[in-house]
Amino acid sequence: MAAGQGTRMKSARPKVLHTLAGRSLLQHVLSTAGSLGAQRPIVVTGHGAEQVEAAMRQALPDAPIDFVRQQPQLGTGHAVQQAAHRLAEHAALPGATTLILNGDVPLIEPSTARALVEASGGRRLALLTVALADATGYGRIVREAPGDAASPVRAIVEHKDASHEQRAIREVYTGMMAAPTAQLLRWLAALSNDNAQREYYLTDVVAMAVAEGVPVVAAPAASETEVLGVNSPAQLAELERRVQRAQAEALMEAGVRLADPARLDVRGRLECGRDVEIDVNCVFEGEVRLGDGVRVGANCVIRDARIEAGAQIHPFTHIEGEGLGVTVGAEARVGPFARLRPGARLGADVHIGNFVEVKNATLAAGAKANHLAYVGDATVGERVNFGAGSITANYDGANKHRTVIEDDAHVGSNCVLVAPVTVGAGATIGGGSTITKNAPAGQLSVARARQVALSGWQRPKKGAKPSGG
Ligand code: UD1
Ligand code: CA
Repeated sequence: MAAGQGTRMKSARPKVLHTLAGRSLLQHVLSTAGSLGAQRPIVVTGHGAEQVEAAMRQALPDAPIDFVRQQPQLGTGHAVQQAAHRLAEHAALPGATTLILNGDVPLIEPSTARALVEASGGRRLALLTVALADATGYGRIVREAPGDAASPVRAIVEHKDASHEQRAIREVYTGMMAAPTAQLLRWLAALSNDNAQREYYLTDVVAMAVAEGVPVVAAPAASETEVLGVNSPAQLAELERRVQRAQAEALMEAGVRLADPARLDVRGRLECGRDVEIDVNCVFEGEVRLGDGVRVGANCVIRDARIEAGAQIHPFTHIEGEGLGVTVGAEARVGPFARLRPGARLGADVHIGNFVEVKNATLAAGAKANHLAYVGDATVGERVNFGAGSITANYDGANKHRTVIEDDAHVGSNCVLVAPVTVGAGATIGGGSTITKNAPAGQLSVARARQVALSGWQRPKKGAKPSGG
């Protein structure tokens, strides 16, 4: 169910598209469904339906999802009614079971969801429940003998419809259930909105099951975290902290040394070798792999990159590999204040220093660009020294062109290499040159105005009339 508006988020974005650890809430739920083997999950959309459906198709291009629309949104029972025609296709299969998950409860564990399906077994109505210190707002589990967890479940009563005594019940419905599909379809068809909110409550199916003699079982959640819903920015931030803390603990468990587990954010997947050290305030996004002995300094943001063994990423470095990826070779040194963009491929022992930007360029082993440089659309050979302030001018306003700098070349400071152009092996480019033609191997190429000295020239004096026109 992903049709609700999420008013309390106070956002133009549909609630289920807000992100947790780098993925939308709905994506978390769909990946849980996928890990249970759901081949064609049904997603009920309504509020912002087009945006939600487009976002899922983009994020999960290979997942065959059936979207059904709920317009307007008349309650959780009404939401599931919209999927009835799809569920009916499977209802005759022996043991057919429908698992209902909430698009805004992102951390439900696959093992818990699987246990819920097993508790149903296609014959029982299984409810995922949790005991809360403050149950305000939740549907309460009403049992035959109140307070006795062994006594049979009779109904779920919504907070707004509950009596004073019922509101004292701590055991609540989490919003997730597994039901025998054929029976569920019958119950859905019989729902009414005769209640405090004039809504079609999915939870009314419980009393219907009881009336028909279908067993109702309450399966407790493994932890409170996995059933927490997101209704507000504060709750979203709280869940984010819990996820990040758990990820940090798993990394430390695997031997990664984090300067502070509370100051690490992984929004995707971070894979680490042995003896990896990560200083404070680092953010990892997409897929990042850090090889053995890699050290990442404080305040780095690294996305979609592979950092080989022994490399060091100094503070304030931004590595952004989305699309083509970024690779940093073994023992390389990057930063501080460096920027590696998609397609940056650094070989072993490459040094990239402060205020150097590398994009779609290969730097072979031992190449260095230590200060204030731009290397874009370039192939740079081994041991090349790319001087301070030098750039490859790769863009002529319409097309991008490549610069080739062969092994052992030395590009002086403040040079412009106007692509397409090749600097031959061992060539030297004099500082301040604008290179528009290939520079031959082994020679010095200089392309700048000659220095002249004017004898007898005088500095202007204060108050003197300007000379000439
Ligand atoms: C629901 C349960 C309540 C439970 C609580 C747990 C009902 C009637 N009540 O309450 O017992 O304790 O969840 O959080 O089911 N949705 C739709 N279409 C709608 C309405 C809701 O798709 O017309 C979706 C929402 O986007 C959300 C989910 O259903 O993902 C739950 O909706 P919400 O309004 O949060 O349910 P509650 O009334 O809080
Ligand atoms: Ca809710």
